[in-house]
Amino acid sequence: MGGEGVNSEQICGDTTSHEQVVNSPGTGSRGRETVEAESAVCFKNTRDAFLLENNIRGTGTEGGQCIVWGHDPSSDSARLVEVEPGGLWSSYASKFLTFLSIRSKGIYASRSAATEAAPATRIKKFAIYRWNPDKPGDKPRMQTYEIDLNTCGPMVLDALIKIKNEMDSTLTFRRSCREGICGSCAMNINGGNTLACTCKIDTNINKVSKIYPLPHMYVVKDLVPDLSNFYAQYKSIQPYLKKKDESQEGKQQYVQSIEDRQKLDGLYECILCACCSTSCPSYWWNGDKYLGPAVLMQAYRWMIDSRDEFTEERLAQLQDPFSLYRCHTIMNCTQACPKGLNPGKAIAEIKKMMVVYKTEAANA
Ligand code: SF4
Ligand code: SF4
Ligand code: FES
Repeated sequence: MGGEGVNSEQICGDTTSHEQVVNSPGTGSRGRETVEAESAVCFKNTRDAFLLENNIRGTGTEGGQCIVWGHDPSSDSARLVEVEPGGLWSSYASKFLTFLSIRSKGIYASRSAATEAAPATRIKKFAIYRWNPDKPGDKPRMQTYEIDLNTCGPMVLDALIKIKNEMDSTLTFRRSCREGICGSCAMNINGGNTLACTCKIDTNINKVSKIYPLPHMYVVKDLVPDLSNFYAQYKSIQPYLKKKDESQEGKQQYVQSIEDRQKLDGLYECILCACCSTSCPSYWWNGDKYLGPAVLMQAYRWMIDSRDEFTEERLAQLQDPFSLYRCHTIMNCTQACPKGLNPGKAIAEIKKMMVVYKTEAANA
């Protein structure tokens, strides 16, 4: 088989079915066909790519079929093309590929016959906080890594994984689900607390992306904060259903009306990533005694659960100057939450409940 420089990695995968109008210039036939394709241009396999390349250059020796998925200027359709050396496709395809070379996101067709140019590199700098407690005398510093964005996934976590896999295996960070569910990859990216796996890389290559661990926390290593205090505070609010009479536990279902269940929406979705608590100035200064927005929102979640019977006790537990009342409604927490939750509002609701609770306690 002829053709040069064709690399199967440059051929995109066939993952999506598209039913499209299909033309065959070689045979003149036209009809609907299912075209497997993923991107602006997709060659069915390496052989097809060889064929196409050869025919555009007019040097091909074989015919065959080639599926190209993309926007064709004349008919706006995908095309199933009969490739004939030196035939109709030759002149037709060169126009087609010139167009695709603009649209094809750097996949194979960017190597059009006319240009042969590889996509220009897009080198992006990432300045990352480094500190290794196991290295005597090591001081925190920023280390810069350069990544070609053409060879990296779109999220900041993709960049971190690429650095760890290909450049520096000592870089340490937490991650697990890579889809905003586990909360492990929370960190400070370009000045804001968020999840690395759901945070897109800023593609402006003139700007350095700066990545730090969650702020005002002890650091275990590099981007890994010590969340021991955060988890201990979470444990302290007893984040589980509590009944006065536990004799029925496991014997019957604790039913809840649809309305009561809906009251938990916007609360139960919290993934305990700590982005909110570590963006709260009050938590920065009093993190040992102030529970912070994440934990308080979960305290509220159990206070208003219609099945729970310890609401008063839960409120009583927060009656000191620090646990709840260090919140000054600055609302950094709500702004930071990568899940779009509103811990600031939950805290305000606890304060309202506290007024009623205190009044009732005083009148009792
Ligand atoms: S609203 Fe309260 S918890 Fe949220 S950032 Fe402000 S002070 Fe912190
Ligand atoms: S409220 Fe949002 S930011 Fe705070 S811990 Fe939960 S998910 Fe994370
Ligand atoms: S890796 Fe799980 S939330 Fe980012």
